[in-house]
Amino acid sequence: MVLGILGSGSGSNMQAILDAIDAGTLDARIALVLSDNPGAFILERARARGIEAGVIDCGGFKTKFPDEAQAATAARLKEAGVELVCLAGFLRLVKRPLLEAFPRRIINIHPSLLPRFPGLEAWKQALDAGVPETGCTVHFVDEGMDTGPVIVQESVPVLPGDTPATLHARIQTVEHRLYPDAVGRVIVENLKC
Ligand code: GAR
Repeated sequence: MVLGILGSGSGSNMQAILDAIDAGTLDARIALVLSDNPGAFILERARARGIEAGVIDCGGFKTKFPDEAQAATAARLKEAGVELVCLAGFLRLVKRPLLEAFPRRIINIHPSLLPRFPGLEAWKQALDAGVPETGCTVHFVDEGMDTGPVIVQESVPVLPGDTPATLHARIQTVEHRLYPDAVGRVIVENLKC
């Protein structure tokens, strides 16, 4: 299965997917990595591995993902032969132009037990809410914000003295195992179709 990755930041989840491919536990190949943030470390990680990496031009909008940019992104992914799109810390809302190009073929990892704490800095939302546990979720992407059908979730405890940074780090440890595993499950399901 040919993967395309969209990310806005460090790309540690993409790295986890790459590590699983290298280890032979995930039968896939990453063909293209795109970011809306030209300075994102995910682009450096990709280039260091010889993976094609590029910037999505959002026309100067800070948070919006304009339709033209979504259509251009879909075209680039298709051109690279991408079959499954993995959002890995991608912080813009995906809408119809991209969703229609990859029906039920776009998945996302989110750092909470959805439907709780959608949106940005979910680990901080969990701390502020004082919940005893939070977690992470891999789900199919639909038009809502972190609302699509859940593929897999796992809980993570919130410990006394946690800061946003310590809690996010604990969630990420689980993410790095859960995301490659979920990608593998989606591939197997798709091969059955
Ligand atoms: C991850 O924790 C991911 O769950 C989160 O951003 C981080 C990206 O880290 N995504 C969201 O909050 C999406 N709503 P990474 O760039 O190191 O993979």
